[in-house]
Amino acid sequence: MNKFLKIKQKKNKSKIICLTAYSKNIASIIDKHCDIILVGDSLGSVLYNFSSTKKVTLDMMIEHSKSVRMGVKKSLMVVDMPHNTYRNAKEALNNAKKIISKTKCDAVKLEGGKKVIRTIKTLIRNKIPVMGHLGVLPQSAKNFKFKGKETTERKIILRDSKLLEEAGVFSIVLECIESSLSKEITKTINIPTIGIGASSYCDGQVLVTDDLIGLNKISARFVKRFSNIEKQINEAALKFKKDVVTSKFPTKKHSYQIKNIV
Ligand code: KIV
Repeated sequence: MNKFLKIKQKKNKSKIICLTAYSKNIASIIDKHCDIILVGDSLGSVLYNFSSTKKVTLDMMIEHSKSVRMGVKKSLMVVDMPHNTYRNAKEALNNAKKIISKTKCDAVKLEGGKKVIRTIKTLIRNKIPVMGHLGVLPQSAKNFKFKGKETTERKIILRDSKLLEEAGVFSIVLECIESSLSKEITKTINIPTIGIGASSYCDGQVLVTDDLIGLNKISARFVKRFSNIEKQINEAALKFKKDVVTSKFPTKKHSYQIKNIV
């Protein structure tokens, strides 16, 4: 079955699982557990220590996505369009085409509501599948406070979710949105919502894999650490060091020899 249809059909039936990947090795491990793998522009802060995602470039997204593509076999692969690559419909179309042709991903993700509707319609008209992103929008956010406290803001986000659906996006990421608003959006629209800090009312959940495995040190309310890979890397590096220092590694087994050499 078509991957997009499979994801749409999960709405109201089973949860959609989405994780981020920035490289082949991680992608190939998580692929079997995911419906969607997102090459998120969060890689700017997670890997490059940027203070925001604004400095992430198209080339960075393309290079990481090419690596991820090698590890993704079954999941739908979505690539974030970085900041300043979709300021108007023409620019977005050129850049989205570049992303799709160079990385062979299945879809792109754009942040925003009403402002980007024309752009999204252009992409979809040109057969580029799009995922939406509402709530906290890291590419333009002044702060990372959750959205949906005030009535006006709630109305705008709900309106934007309907506009995105009408424009033809196949799903929407809801980032840091008050729970009852996520519930209302998820009930109102017929496409799946994927939450991050947006409650269990969403049709699916997304998490940054480096946060999930304890490689990235962020303490946000919406992060749950499911494993401590840092500890394991520490232990392995320490064992390596000890074995090298005591000449236990490398042994003959890990070295090359030819017979009869003087
Ligand atoms: O960039 C990213 O990783 C994202 C997710 C957090 C949804 O947009």
